[in-house]
Amino acid sequence: MARTVLITGGTSGIGLAAAKRFAADGDRVVITGRHEETVRAAARECGAEGVVCDGTDPAQVEELAAGLGDTLDVLVNSAGGLPEFTASSHSHLETVLAEWHAALGKNLLTAVLATTAVKEKLVAAPAGAVISIGTIGSERSGGSYGAAKAALATWSAALSAVIGPKGVTCNVIAAGFIDETNFFHGRMTDARRSHLVEETHNKRPGAVGDMASTIHFLASDGARHITGQTIHVNGGAHTTR
Ligand SMILES: NC(=O)c1ccc[n+]([C@@H]2O[C@H](COP(=O)([O-])OP(=O)(O)OC[C@H]3O[C@@H](n4cnc5c(N)ncnc54)[C@H](OP(=O)(O)O)[C@@H]3O)[C@@H](O)[C@H]2O)c1
Repeated sequence: MARTVLITGGTSGIGLAAAKRFAADGDRVVITGRHEETVRAAARECGAEGVVCDGTDPAQVEELAAGLGDTLDVLVNSAGGLPEFTASSHSHLETVLAEWHAALGKNLLTAVLATTAVKEKLVAAPAGAVISIGTIGSERSGGSYGAAKAALATWSAALSAVIGPKGVTCNVIAAGFIDETNFFHGRMTDARRSHLVEETHNKRPGAVGDMASTIHFLASDGARHITGQTIHVNGGAHTTR
């Protein structure tokens, strides 16, 4: 049976790879991003519906939710990334505040708004799931970005208890270094890349396919008893014991 799958931030990287995976199943996939051109191109590439929606804008998120129909099977909160902000000419603290607002908006509030907007539409069968993308940076000294994603994981665990009784799972996938994304905005150096690969146990970068496979699994029948968790996909760069 075709499912309806909403993927925020589906225009590139992990979200786009996940969109392709669900679309290959014949699911109705809806992807979002902030720019008309990239949304349209990505939707065409993976056979999804594209909606221009800035996930930090409540009115745009409400409109997105209204266009989905009455039910939603899977929500993937993939929108996020390093904070984009303009340094203030007024004071250092205003610049710090702008960075933190940007980090929290992009990585925490996009997920909170999207999930709240669709919560009543989420259905248990065949495998209802909310999956949010976190980061290995939350386990380390991750600054505003890592802190925002840590809050995402804490919020997600609490939400699991709220939507769990209706049969919908709720998890975070904390990613290590994942290649083939726009995350680093072309600023990844060879030295940094080598370091990130070296700290994995399998000596390779993560691929968007690694993430898409884990997302797909969490939205499958085999993952019905996995909820309230942070699942780490990082090649061993961070271990939980
Ligand atoms: N790549 C990594 O190594 C890595 C590691 C840990 C965690 N992550 C997380 O993985 C998720 C996916 O990132 P990625 O690596 O696939 O990078 P990416 O290629 O830059 O994808 C980010 C996606 O989020 C969208 N987006 C950003 N801000 C948005 C907003 N306010 N509203 C709606 N869409 C928004 C982007 O589209 P537009 O810019 O066009 O709006 C894009 O589709 C992010 O949450 C990121 O923090 C990535």
